[in-house]
Amino acid sequence: MNTRLKFTVYLITTMVGAQCLAVTKASAQTKKTAVHHTVTKTVTHKPSAADLAQGKALFTKSDCLTCHKMDVKLVGPAYYDVAKKYPATDANYEMLANKVIAGGSGVWGQVAMAPHPALAHADAKKIVEYILSLKPVKS
Ligand code: HEC
Repeated sequence: MNTRLKFTVYLITTMVGAQCLAVTKASAQTKKTAVHHTVTKTVTHKPSAADLAQGKALFTKSDCLTCHKMDVKLVGPAYYDVAKKYPATDANYEMLANKVIAGGSGVWGQVAMAPHPALAHADAKKIVEYILSLKPVKS
């Protein structure tokens, strides 16, 4: 191989190599964006201290404590058990707020929870956010 040919081969190799590197970098970046996107989508909105205080006030004012206690099962499940069963996610806030409004049975037993049609959806959600934030003193 003469020097000129060698140089050409060297040039081609370098260019192809650089391009490969660029493609690899680009795909790595795409992957990163994709992962980031997924994480953003599953992030749960975190209730503020004010939200939780409001939730607690609404909860105390409502009839919830006639059927539920914090630490033992009454007519309905103990709230500590509810908090243990459901992670604090948007999907669970939504599902349980709807359940509190509609009432229903079958998850903890055959006894039904009374519906709360007068409760606004936003208020029910705040109450549920408060309940799911509860940490039992003893497990
Ligand atoms: C008449 C009694 C009664 C009242 C009043 C009541 N509950 Fe319940 N609650 C129940 C029963 C019974 C269950 C179990 C339902 C089941 O097994 O699906 C339950 C279940 C729940 C659950 C768990 C639901 C699930 O699907 O896991 C939440 C959260 C809850 N109650 C919140 C509340 C809130 C908040 C209030 C007040 C606004 C309230 N409850 C008032 C009886 C009651």
